[in-house]
Amino acid sequence: MSARILYGKDFAAQIKESARVEIESLKNKFGVTPGLAVVIVGENPASQVYVRNKHKTCVELGINSTVVAMPETSTKEDLLAKIDELNADKNVNGILVQLPLPAEIKAHSEEILNRIDPLKDVDGFHPVNVGKLVTGSPALVPCTPAGCIEMLDLAGIKIDGKRAVIIGRSNIVGKPMLHLLMARHATVTVCHSHTKNLADVTREAEILVAAMGRPKFVTADMIREGAVVIDVGINRIAPKKLVGDVDFDAAVEIAGAITPVPGGVGLLTVAMLMKNVVTATKLQLKIS
Ligand code: GUN
Repeated sequence: MSARILYGKDFAAQIKESARVEIESLKNKFGVTPGLAVVIVGENPASQVYVRNKHKTCVELGINSTVVAMPETSTKEDLLAKIDELNADKNVNGILVQLPLPAEIKAHSEEILNRIDPLKDVDGFHPVNVGKLVTGSPALVPCTPAGCIEMLDLAGIKIDGKRAVIIGRSNIVGKPMLHLLMARHATVTVCHSHTKNLADVTREAEILVAAMGRPKFVTADMIREGAVVIDVGINRIAPKKLVGDVDFDAAVEIAGAITPVPGGVGLLTVAMLMKNVVTATKLQLKIS
């Protein structure tokens, strides 16, 4: 039996439509147009594509979009000064610094990201927002894991009481995913490169999240029959060939539902960013 394929574009369209309605209502009721500033440093081609995509989606939904393109040679001080300026700008409700930063300043990424006002931190990376997620009063949550939860909800897949296994413990996906699934009453295990007998653990999963960045690492024998398999990996294995962390062709025969790569949860990230801009605007206006 072949799995239900969870295509990101169907869910992304629903998330964007609900953001568009909220943006319209913020304009009509409060006279506020949400604003997003995306800071990009240098000329990384993949980052340029991502930033253009964010800008286009903002325009589509009625968010004021500012792209701040800074030269490759920018210093840490240049970036901190720019963030201070955006923090103080009341027309900017969300700030995102596109990663990765150029090699010369990469080591300062944490200090730079931590300078963003937590109320404007639409990536959800600031320690204040991480802390709120852990203690159960989430404010701004990282877009990719939040998109996975939103997708499960929209697909009508129950989380409560399920056995969930996450492979990968990154700050961007694995760790926030743990807290989001736990808050929804799943029983969650996080696996990583030091996990022993990995397949024995992953075969227990009713919801399996692959987020470790290794092409086609999750094979059919690691998947429980009927499991919901969410593939967060994006691995370029040839100039024009992207694959996930899951061996899709094999997994689709075992899983109950599965997200493809490309065309899966990646498409939800930008939609969730738009939702976070709305959330940030409401937090700043102190409305719910
Ligand atoms: N680069 C790749 N993914 C992300 C993300 O989620 N946020 C930011 N700021 N940069 C990224």
